[in-house]
Amino acid sequence: MDLFEYQARDLFEKHGVPVLAGIVATTPEEAKAAAEKIGGVTVVKAQVKVGGRGKAGGVKVAKTADEAYQYAQDILGMDIKGHTVHRVMIAEGADIAEEYYFSVLLDRANRSYLAMCSVEGGMEIEQLAVERPEALARVDVNPAEGITEAKAREIVEQAKFDSETAEKIVPVLVKLGEVYTKEDATLVEVNPLVKTGNGEVLALDGKVSLDDNAEFRHEDHAGLADKSSADPLEEKAKENDLNYVKLDGEVGIIGNGAGLVMSTLDVVAYAGEKHGNVKPANFLDIGGGASAEVMAAGLDVILNDPQVKSVFVNVFGGITACDAVANGIVKALEILGDSATKPIVVRLDGNNVDEGRQILADANHPLVTSAETMDSGADKAAELANSAK
Ligand SMILES: Nc1ncnc2c1ncn2[C@@H]1O[C@H](COP(=O)(O)OP(=O)(O)OP(=O)(O)O)[C@@H](O)[C@H]1O
Ligand SMILES: [Mg+2]
Repeated sequence: MDLFEYQARDLFEKHGVPVLAGIVATTPEEAKAAAEKIGGVTVVKAQVKVGGRGKAGGVKVAKTADEAYQYAQDILGMDIKGHTVHRVMIAEGADIAEEYYFSVLLDRANRSYLAMCSVEGGMEIEQLAVERPEALARVDVNPAEGITEAKAREIVEQAKFDSETAEKIVPVLVKLGEVYTKEDATLVEVNPLVKTGNGEVLALDGKVSLDDNAEFRHEDHAGLADKSSADPLEEKAKENDLNYVKLDGEVGIIGNGAGLVMSTLDVVAYAGEKHGNVKPANFLDIGGGASAEVMAAGLDVILNDPQVKSVFVNVFGGITACDAVANGIVKALEILGDSATKPIVVRLDGNNVDEGRQILADANHPLVTSAETMDSGADKAAELANSAK
């Protein structure tokens, strides 16, 4: 889960990273009140989960509360790279002397963490990384140790900070390392990390991604989810512990095992080329134990997608054999009753395939068609979706 800047700011504050005051506002009136409360120069900052806000005109310095009102009015509702701005953060203005860059992230290829740091931070960091990679220090961080003081020193040394600044940066990097480890983040990025006119070091911008797999360790993280922009079907699937991703097509997909589902998407997309270019409507992996309840929950999510015109259930019977899966489908349709209205193509193979197919044949449900192979099932489902378009 990616966080908004204001949420990252709050996490930084919680772990003792130096930040300035910041108040979220959803209307120009709230923005003005926030600017009055903070006092002095403030910065009105678009809260969207995409980079390059400053360059897109989403970060403006306001000298007065009335200016903050005006900028909030301009920025709220703005579209930044396809993200609509619903909130702004009114931040206390900093007297910036120098801008630096720091990040720590999960380096999957090295099975390690990677810290990056540069004395040349600010809005052009991506360009810097490409044009002058030597100006960006890259330091491996042992995940068992995190960013210790010694590691922070190694980072600032490689980034070539002068010794006086280095002394001030080291404790901030240690704190940012704590945010990363204690919150189970996969990314903590600060751009810019600044030195002010009186030599203070501050995190002025923050990007944090949290590891969803660690959610069970952090009760407070659920509250950080952005309900307003979440897809309602994905929310429902999540409540039912289903691995579901909404896509843009018309053929609903249910399979067991991520690999099988991925190849089912390919096969359906290919079959769709012959049938009005219909495409897969989702990814849904119901996992190993395809029980009736899980099948019903999966079908329920998919049938509630108004874009879906047909469903392709592609299951390979393994530990849960085909007869159990077929019983699951039949029971799921009983559970759903009249709310199931779209044609369903089922392809079963693997353990007890004959028994499974027999169960479906005996049930003789008007919505269900059996397919012998993955290709013929995909073709049938695409054909049905196209004719219902
Ligand atoms: N509180 C602040 N006080 C003074 N200047 C600020 C403040 N916050 C940001 N700035 C200035 O605005 C610039 C852009 O702000 P920020 O880094 O938050 O957005 P961005 O980098 O454009 O967005 P993103 O990180 O999404 O690409 C900073 O580099 C800094 O110079
Ligand atoms: Mg930035």
